[in-house]
Amino acid sequence: MNFEFTEEQIMIRQAARDFAKKLEADVIERDTKAEFPTQHVKELSELGFMGMTVDPEYGGGGMDTISYVLAIEEISKVDSSISVIMSVNNSLVCWGIEKFGNAAQKEKYLPDLANGERIGAFLLSEPEAGSDATSQRTTAEDKGDYYLMNGTKNWITNANCGSVYLVIAQTHPEKKHHGINVFIVDKDTPGISLGPHEDKMGMRSSDTHSVMFTDVKVPAENRIGEDGFGFKFAMKVLEVGRIGIAAQALGIAGGAYERALQYSKERKAFGKLLADHQALAFKLADMYVKIENARNLCLKAAWLKDNDKPFGLTSAMAKQYAADIAMEVTTEAVQIHGGYGYVKEYHVERLMREAKLTQIYEGTSEVQKIVISRTILKD
Ligand code: CAA
Repeated sequence: MNFEFTEEQIMIRQAARDFAKKLEADVIERDTKAEFPTQHVKELSELGFMGMTVDPEYGGGGMDTISYVLAIEEISKVDSSISVIMSVNNSLVCWGIEKFGNAAQKEKYLPDLANGERIGAFLLSEPEAGSDATSQRTTAEDKGDYYLMNGTKNWITNANCGSVYLVIAQTHPEKKHHGINVFIVDKDTPGISLGPHEDKMGMRSSDTHSVMFTDVKVPAENRIGEDGFGFKFAMKVLEVGRIGIAAQALGIAGGAYERALQYSKERKAFGKLLADHQALAFKLADMYVKIENARNLCLKAAWLKDNDKPFGLTSAMAKQYAADIAMEVTTEAVQIHGGYGYVKEYHVERLMREAKLTQIYEGTSEVQKIVISRTILKD
């Protein structure tokens, strides 16, 4: 087993670290105003990170999943509103099209998505189909050379900034999840409208809306895969997406830990540094161990994917564990900071709010446990 990174992976991590450093200056303001980070996303595209895992044949960076985990981790230490924009584009949208799309779909959509000219969104969740993803109510009626789409999608990241939608919809309700399809839909197609920007608890500057479809005509050639492939498609891309969100949770935990570590080496109480109080030193030790375990799971999932081995179980474990420890670690970071932890200036309260979302989206922690338990019980 080789636990060393390659020179290229180290370079990518450093580039992400340098980029993240620059995000610090305005992260609190963007969080407060829930302002979309337009300029930072442009810089992310210039770094090649918006399509970092896409094959260079389609204009992507051709980087491996380990590099992707390292980049997402570093950016999430500072601002996970930005890393989720990047994660959804790379893993749910670009990977989905690259892996399962046909040649024409790849040529048409991937280059712009890979260079950040366009941003992708993944539209699976609905008002009554969140964790229960098979219960899709959005319909895509087969009309021959087009599908007629109607319905509402909820909690869609990149809904407004994105212009390429991957939409999961039901074509044959009698076949249940075997009747579901996935379509590439251009956002400016007539009949698409957006709900208001969601005023979220955390990751406030990422762009989340409901999306409504009213008699939207989607060209038949925009369906990905065979008729009825949509649910399997969603499950497959989520296996990849969960590596990105696991890395994001890892970064959030790491950002909070680094701040708590620093603070406990500077702040004195009862005549000595916080770090010299065993009660707090033990908290830091626990945080460190949890983060290291989460990192190992994330990197293992990435390694399995890079080596064409099954990775769905490990990505679910990484996502569940990293999200849960991110919540624990950020909560402890607030505790170590005391009153200062509860105000915005010290960042840890924001990281705690961001951690909560990693336990919810791309499958709650409970959904990951469904995936894990079903897999181990099957073996
Ligand atoms: N790969 C391939 N096929 C899979 C699969 C996988 N990983 N997982 C399930 N399937 C297949 C099953 O084999 C089954 O097929 P057959 O009927 O042909 O045998 C079919 O899919 C249905 O599977 P289940 O019976 O296991 O389905 P279920 O209803 O019990 O649900 C679930 C399983 C894991 C809970 C699933 O519904 C799920 O993952 N839900 C969560 C959805 C989710 O993550 N939503 C997040 C939205 S995306 C998002 O958040 C993006 C963003 O904006 C940030």
